[in-house]
Amino acid sequence: MLQDPFKRKINYLRLSVTDRCDFRCQYCMSEDIEFMPKHQMLTIEEMNRLANIFINLGVEKIRLTGGEPLVRRGVNELIDKLSQNKKLKELTLTTNGSQLDQKLDVLKQSKIKRINVSLDSLCSENFKKITRIGNLNEVLANLEIAKEYFQIKLNTVLMKNINDHEIIDLVSYAVEQNFNISFIEQMPLGEIGYDRSTSFINSNEAKKIIEKKYILEENNKRTGGPAVYWKIKGSNSFVGFISPHSHNFCDSCNRVRVSADGYLHLCLGHDEKVNLIEPLRDHDTDHAVERLIIDSLSNKPKSHEFNLENKTNVIRFMSHTGG
Ligand code: 5AD
Ligand code: SF4
Repeated sequence: MLQDPFKRKINYLRLSVTDRCDFRCQYCMSEDIEFMPKHQMLTIEEMNRLANIFINLGVEKIRLTGGEPLVRRGVNELIDKLSQNKKLKELTLTTNGSQLDQKLDVLKQSKIKRINVSLDSLCSENFKKITRIGNLNEVLANLEIAKEYFQIKLNTVLMKNINDHEIIDLVSYAVEQNFNISFIEQMPLGEIGYDRSTSFINSNEAKKIIEKKYILEENNKRTGGPAVYWKIKGSNSFVGFISPHSHNFCDSCNRVRVSADGYLHLCLGHDEKVNLIEPLRDHDTDHAVERLIIDSLSNKPKSHEFNLENKTNVIRFMSHTGG
C-alpha cells in the first residue's frame, strides 16, 4: 500500500492520456496553448504498463482524464485493457462530452460506470464563449445518449459574471436528468491571459444561490474525490462543492496524477514532478519504477497553497494533468 509521510493512503490514480483537447475553455488554457510534442508522450502500451505498476502498488481506482481523454488515439485499447484488470476496482472518466457518442460502444463494454462531464453553461452562446470551440447542443445530445448507460456527474467551474447567473438552471437541469453536479472553485493553474481573481466566486456563494430554490440536506456521501456533497431534497441528485480555496481538502488526499508525458505529479498545486518515463523505458522489469514511485511519495506536499491574488502559483495548465 502506498502511503505518504502524513499517513495518507494513496489508492487513486488520475491518468492523463493526452494534454490535447477539442475545446479551449477560457479558465483552463490560453487560446494559443502549445501542447506537448507527441514523441514525448507515453504510448498506450506504456500507459497500461504504468497503470499496472500503480495497481500492483495498491491503487484501486483510476480516473482517465486529459485534456480530453477521448481524443487520444488508442484510448479504446487502454480502456479495454484496464477494464480487464481484475485487481482494479473502479475505472472512471472525466470528459467534456464532445465524443461520447462516438465512443459509446467501447465505454459500454468497459468497467466504467460513472462519467464526469464538464458543463459550464446551458446557453449556447455562453457555452461557446467559455469553451471557445464547443457546441452545447452536441454535448447535451451526447448526455442524453450516455445517461442510459452511465451515472453522470456534471462539473461546473464557477465564474462570477460569466456563469453565476446560470447556477440555478444548471442545478435544475441536473435534477431533471437525475445527474449529480459539482461546482468547482477556479484554480490558478497556468497563465490564461486574464486575472482569474476577477471572476472568482467561492462555493459558499454558489450554495446560497442554490438554496434560494432548493433545500440541501447534509449528507456523508464521498466518492473518493475532494467534493463535499449535499442531497437535493425531493430529487435523486446530489450537489457537490469542490472548494480548494474556501475548504481545504488536502488532509484526506488519496491521489496522485500521471501526465501524458509520463511524469508523476504528487499534488495539483505544486510544480514538482518525477520522471517515470525514463526508468520505464530503461528497464524491462518494473522494479525500478515501483521503487521510484514509493520513494517519491515521501515528497508529497502536505497541501496546495492556491492564492488567486498572487498571480499564478503553478505554471502548468489544468489540461496537463486533468481534473
Ligand atoms: N480551475 C478549476 N477547474 C478547472 N478545470 C479545468 N481548469 C480548471 C481550473 N483552472 C475543470 C474542468 C473540468 C475539470 C476536470 O476541471 O472544467 O470539469
Ligand atoms: Fe478541454 Fe476540459 Fe480544459 Fe475545457 S476544461 S479546455 S474541455 S481540458
